[in-house]
Amino acid sequence: MYSCKIINLPKILDARGNLSFVENNNQIPFVIKRIYWIYDVPGGTERGGHAYKENMEFVIALSGSFDVILDDGFSKKVYNLNRSYYGLLVPKMIWRKMENFSTNSLALVLSSTDYNEKDYVRDYDLFKSIAVKSM
Ligand code: TYD
Repeated sequence: MYSCKIINLPKILDARGNLSFVENNNQIPFVIKRIYWIYDVPGGTERGGHAYKENMEFVIALSGSFDVILDDGFSKKVYNLNRSYYGLLVPKMIWRKMENFSTNSLALVLSSTDYNEKDYVRDYDLFKSIAVKSM
C-alpha cells in the first residue's frame, strides 16, 4: 500500500533554465503506462470526482496552479500544486477532485495503467462502502 504524498523531483538548476525529470520506478513507485494532461480549464471548473480500483497516478502542475482534494473515505486533504519540480502521488482507491485551476494551468498526470473506464469508481457512496469494507 502506498500513501498520498508529495514527491520532490530532481531539479537541475541552470542559468539557461531549470530541468526536472521522472523515471519509471525511481522517483515514482510505478511504471508509467499512460500520460495525459488537462489544460484550457475554464475558471471555476471542477475535474475528477472519482477513484480508481487499480490505477495509481502522479500529478504535476507543469504550469500555473490548482488544488487536488484527496479523500480516503475517512478524511480529506487539500494539496495546492503550483511548481513543476514536485508532484502528488495518488494511490489507488483514493477519491480525488481537482479545482481552482489558474488561467493557463497545465496538469500533467502519469498513470500506472492503460485507460479503462471499468477501473473508475464514480459513485461516492459506493467508494465509501468499499473504503469501509477494506479497513
Ligand atoms: P475523466 O478521467 O473522467 O476526467 P476527469 O477525471 O479529469 O474529470 O475523463 C474524461 C473523459 O476522457 C472520459 O470520457 C474518458 C476520457 N479519457 C480517455 O479516453 N483516456 C484517458 O486516458 C483519460 C484520462 C480520459
